Formats: sequence, C-alpha cells, structure tokens
Amino acid sequence: MKNATITALGGYVPTSVLSNEALTKMVDTSEEWIEKRTGIKERRIAEFDQSTSHLAAGAIKDLLQSYDVHPSEIEGVILATATPDSLLAPTAPTVCQLCELDNAFGFDLNSACSGFLYALTMATSMIESGRYKKIIVVGADKMSSIVDYNDRNTCILFGDGAGAVLLEAIESGNGVLNSILRTDGKGTESLLVPGGGSKYPASAESLISGKHYIKQDGSLVFKKAVAAMGSVSRDALTANDFDSEDIDWVIPHQANIRIIKAVSDSLNIPFEKVKVNIEKYGNTTSATIPLCLWDFKEDFKEGQNLLLTAFGAGFTWGATVLTWGVLRPSKSHNYQGNCVEATI
Ligand code: ACO
Repeated sequence: MKNATITALGGYVPTSVLSNEALTKMVDTSEEWIEKRTGIKERRIAEFDQSTSHLAAGAIKDLLQSYDVHPSEIEGVILATATPDSLLAPTAPTVCQLCELDNAFGFDLNSACSGFLYALTMATSMIESGRYKKIIVVGADKMSSIVDYNDRNTCILFGDGAGAVLLEAIESGNGVLNSILRTDGKGTESLLVPGGGSKYPASAESLISGKHYIKQDGSLVFKKAVAAMGSVSRDALTANDFDSEDIDWVIPHQANIRIIKAVSDSLNIPFEKVKVNIEKYGNTTSATIPLCLWDFKEDFKEGQNLLLTAFGAGFTWGATVLTWGVLRPSKSHNYQGNCVEATI
C-alpha cells in the first residue's frame, strides 16, 4: 500500500495586521493582558471583499507556484472551513475554479478548529484506497466575518488565513501513520455561532441580538481543549507503539499559548519540540495547523515524526502522527506583500 505523504505546502495570510494595541481602542483590554493570557501579539484581517475562497486559493496558488506540480495533476480539493463564502453553494468549487484545477473534485468539510485534521484523515483514506493519487487539503477561515469586535472574550483571539498541503501516494514508508478523531456533541452550546443556520435562520431579530457572531465559554473550552488534545495524542502515540521521545515535532492547533504549553507538559514533550506561530496570526481556526507546517517546513527532515493535534467547536478533536517525507522540487517564488494596519 502506498502512504499518503505531504509533498508540497502553501500558505496565505492577508497583509492587514490587527495589533493588540489596536484592540485596546475597541474593547476594554490591554496589550499585556492579551499577550500574557493568549500568546498573541497580532493577527491578520482579510479585506471586506476577500472571502474564504480567496484565502484558500491564495494558499493553493502559493503551493502550485512554489513546487513542481501542474494544476492538471490535482484530483481533488478538500476545504476545511467554518466560514464558507455562503451556506450554499459549497466554497471548494470556487476555490478549484480560482486555481484552475479543472480535473479536481472539491468539497467543504466543517469540523471547526479540528477541520484540517479531519480533512487530512479523509484525504489519507482516499489515497490509501488506491483511488486517488494527489489531493490538496486546505484549511481556510475568515474568522473576522463572524467575530464581534465589541466582545473582548472573543475578538482578541481570532485572525484570518489559509494553509494548504499536497497529499500524494508515495511508496517510501513515510507519510501519515495514523489519525484518531473524536466528537462530543454536549459541547455544542459552549462554542458556536448560534444564528444563520437551520436552527435560527437569519432574521432581523437574530441580527439585532448578535446571533451571527461567535460565542464561547472560554474557560470551559480551555480546560476541555487541554484534556482532549492530551488524551487523543497519547492514544495516537500508543496506537503506533510510540513514546513521547519518538516525536520530533508537535504541531498543535494554535488557540492559546497556555493551552499549547499545558498539552506539551501533559505529554512530557519538551517545549523546544513544539511549533508555535500564534504570536503572528492568532487563532485562524481550520488554518492554524497547515499555516504552522508551512511556516516551519524548513525545520522538518525526512524520517522525522510529527504529531498534529487540534480541538474545536462541536466539540471535535483529534491527533495525527506522520513521518515527514521528501518534498517536491521547489520553484523560487515570493508572493507576500508589505503589511498594512487593518481597519475594522
Ligand atoms: N482583556 C482583559 N480582561 C479580560 C479579557 C480581555 N480580552 N477577556 C476576559 N477578561 C477578564 C474576564 O472578564 C475575567 O474578569 P473577572 O475575573 O473580573 O471576571 C478575567 O479576565 C479572567 O477571565 P477568564 O475567562 O477566566 O480568563 P482566561 O484566563 O480563561 O482567558 C480566554 C480567557 C483567553 C478566552 C481563555 O479562556 C481561552 O483562550 N480559552 C480557549 C478559548 C478558545 O481557544 N476558543 C477558540 C475556539 S476553540 C479552540 O480553538 C481550542
């Protein structure tokens, strides 16, 4: 059986930066509080006319322009997102069109902050079945479209961005070793956008009462995230007959630096092995793990073992263990523009 292996990566973040200092002018908070309690210094905010499909397409175009792979070779795109362009139609077909992926199927998958791991697991199974050889998994979210910038409990946390990986059938022994995915629907009310779906369809009342914004019980989510990411990671290691020492790098969902530290402590994995870029981008929901893989790709060497773990709304959570393989030959390319201050 051929393994599903990451062979190319891409990322995209908008150029507008929303700093902690700018947030102090919007809500009752301080730069110190945000940085100390979350680890976030700034986050990126998409333009008004830039929707999730643009972010996802930005990451995929970066991948296609950075590595030696032709768009016609891509057989499918699984888009993990909690902020689709609209409730109907799905966003992935627009992404395929923007990237000229004429031979690819495309569908959306919403498992909130765990979405990328769910999508990666699905793509892995499709490749291991032998039916597909090259699938792009992209995590993208425009969280600024569902954040209430008058609510200090949530507005400090989130940012916009996208990250993409190409998953390929490779006969090398490297690639995804296993994934464990879990859910607990009892957590639904603790982290959600209550309005705009089939339960509370959009109405004048739903808008006036702010049901279209994300709401959360932050401290409950914090505790659940630490316990769940720790326990599912241990299960994923055990399933491979691995100890903590077998893991070279941990790529955790970037929700809060204190959650990340508590998870690495509970796994007995030194913090030097944990990849963190939350200070630059905040919580980009489905995009945090692929953005982190993209940011730190130069550090990963063939044969090293990576542990990916996430927790999010639903509740949903999971862990994936993979062995890093060989990336496709790269093409020189630099897409990032200069940063500007965001206006909300
Ligand atoms: N600035 C200043 N004070 C604040 C702020 C703020 N932005 N937000 C809350 N506070 C206050 C509270 O009102 C409270 O004041 P009180 O003691 O007078 O009542 C105090 O700070 C402590 O509040 P807590 O909620 O206990 O603060 P905590 O240390 O838990 O931090 C936070 C809050 C950052 C939301 C944290 O709970 C968290 O990160 N939770 C996880 C939530 C999350 O990650 N959600 C994203 C989706 S799920 C996921 O990605 C895992």
